[in-house]
Amino acid sequence: MLSAQDNIQLNNGLAMPLIGLGVYRCSPEETIRSVQAALAAGYRLIDTATAYGNEEQVGQALRSSGVDPAGVFVTSKLWISDYGYDEALRGYEASLQRLGMERLDLYLLHQPLTAHFERTVAAWRALAELQAQGRVGAIGVSNLDADQIEALIGETGAVPAVNQVELHPFFSQPALRQYHRQRGILSMAWSPIGGVNRYWLDNAQRLGDPLRHPAIVSIAEAHHKSAAQVILRWHLQNGVVPIPKSVNPVRIAENVDLFDLELSPEEMAAIDGLDTGLRGGPDPAMIGA
Ligand SMILES: NC(=O)c1ccc[n+]([C@@H]2O[C@H](COP(=O)([O-])OP(=O)(O)OC[C@H]3O[C@@H](n4cnc5c(N)ncnc54)[C@H](OP(=O)(O)O)[C@@H]3O)[C@@H](O)[C@H]2O)c1
Repeated sequence: MLSAQDNIQLNNGLAMPLIGLGVYRCSPEETIRSVQAALAAGYRLIDTATAYGNEEQVGQALRSSGVDPAGVFVTSKLWISDYGYDEALRGYEASLQRLGMERLDLYLLHQPLTAHFERTVAAWRALAELQAQGRVGAIGVSNLDADQIEALIGETGAVPAVNQVELHPFFSQPALRQYHRQRGILSMAWSPIGGVNRYWLDNAQRLGDPLRHPAIVSIAEAHHKSAAQVILRWHLQNGVVPIPKSVNPVRIAENVDLFDLELSPEEMAAIDGLDTGLRGGPDPAMIGA
C-alpha cells in the first residue's frame, strides 16, 4: 500500500511526495504546530510562500520536528512584487534565509503578472538559471494558463515541472490538466478540498461546499471515510498532488489516511461530473493588474 511518503516523478526526474500540507492563512504559531503535526502524521511535503508570511516558522518547525529535514520536500513561491531577473534571484535568497535552508526542492512563480508579463518572463529566466546551477531541485509556476506557460517556454526553453492551480471537484480544470499531461507538467491542487469556497468572500452561499455535496457524502459513507478523504483520493487517482491545509491535528492526520481507499471508475466519474467551471478564488490574471 502506498503512503504519504511515496513519490511521483517530476519532469526533471526529481521525486516529489504524493500529498502535502499547505500553510496559507496559518498564523506563525499555527504554522509551527501544523507542520510538526503533519510531519508526525507522515507528511513529507510542505507548501509555503513568501506571501504567506510564515516561511520562518516552516523552517523552525522542520528543525524541531525530530524528522530529518533533508527528507522533507519544501515548496515556496516568489511573489509578484519580486518579479524581474535580479529581483527573483534576491527573492529566492531571502526565502532561503527565512526558511534557514540552503536549497529548496521546488520554487514557483506564485502568479502571472499579466500587466507586466515581461517581468514574469525575466523572473522565470532567473528560476531556470537557479535550476541550471543546481541551486533548486525543480522550478514551476502557479495560477498560469496554458498560453502563459507556452509563452514562458517560448521565451526561455524551460518547461515548468509543476503548475499549482485551484483544483477541486467544483472547479476541476479538465482542459488545463489535459494540457499539463501533454507537456509533462504535474498538476498540483490548491484548495484541493474546496477551502476557497468556504473562506473567500460570499463563496459558501454562491458556490457551495464540495465537502457537503450529496454525491461526495454518499461515496464517503459507502467507504466509511470522510468527504475530505474521498476528494483527496480522487485527486491522487487523477495523478494530481493535493496540498490540503489544516491547523487541526485530527484533520491533518485524517487527510493522509486515504491510502487504503480505492474509488471505482463510476465514483471517479461521479466526482468528475461535479465541475461547475466556476473558480472560487480571484481570476489570477487580475492580480497585480
Ligand atoms: N498558489 C496559490 O495561489 C494558492 C492559493 C491558495 C492556497 N494555496 C495552497 O494550497 C493550500 C490548501 O488550500 P486552501 O487552504 O485554500 O484550501 P483547502 O486545503 O482545500 O481547505 C482548507 C480548509 O478546509 C478545512 N479542512 C482541512 N481538512 C479538513 C477536513 N478533513 N475536514 C473538514 N475541513 C477540513 C481547513 O480548516 P482547519 O484548518 O480548521 O482544519 C481549512 O479551512 C494552502 O494552504 C496553500 O499552501 C495556494
